[in-house]
Amino acid sequence: MQLPEGYSFRKVAAGDYSNNYLDTLKVLTTVGEISQGQFEDLFKEWDSLPEVYQPHVITNESGVVVATGMLLIERKLIHGCGKVGHIEDIAVAKSEQGKKLGLAMINGLSDLAEKKGCYKIILDCSPHNVGFYEKCGYSNAGVEMSKRFDH
Ligand code: ACO
Repeated sequence: MQLPEGYSFRKVAAGDYSNNYLDTLKVLTTVGEISQGQFEDLFKEWDSLPEVYQPHVITNESGVVVATGMLLIERKLIHGCGKVGHIEDIAVAKSEQGKKLGLAMINGLSDLAEKKGCYKIILDCSPHNVGFYEKCGYSNAGVEMSKRFDH
């Protein structure tokens, strides 16, 4: 993976609560008011299920989080109990966009999914991000459908 000098790709750590992790995700969507306790509970849940949750970040030369991404690994019955990787919550801090960090995050998560034995990796995105994912080697394979619940 190609990263700028001093930047690192690593798993999310408990200390990332106060290390720009939540603010980085705000470029993607609403994060909400998450307390440190809530973050720690969620982190423990992710950490106890590493075969399912693989939350990652890219940090800059000061160790500050500047990009986020989650790989979820789904164990299926079909395809001989095959595994499918799902990419979620990709965000690059505004001031760091255009430095190929998004590409590095997708490459890092895709390599991880392959190493974990996934037979494919999929994601949903807005039409305006299709070009980005094509640059990352992905191709359009369908349509996203959703239903929202009021709670
Ligand atoms: N449309 C077309 N091409 C794009 C786009 C885009 N929206 N964004 C980047 N590219 C191109 C770049 O120009 C570059 O091309 P090049 O290799 O020819 O120079 C290539 O894709 C790689 O770009 P990066 O520098 O790696 O992109 P960046 O680090 O800025 O990250 C990202 C892109 C993640 C879309 C960023 O702009 C971002 O965080 N946006 C807001 C949040 C968001 O939309 N996240 C994706 C949600 S979908 C999901 O989570 C599964």
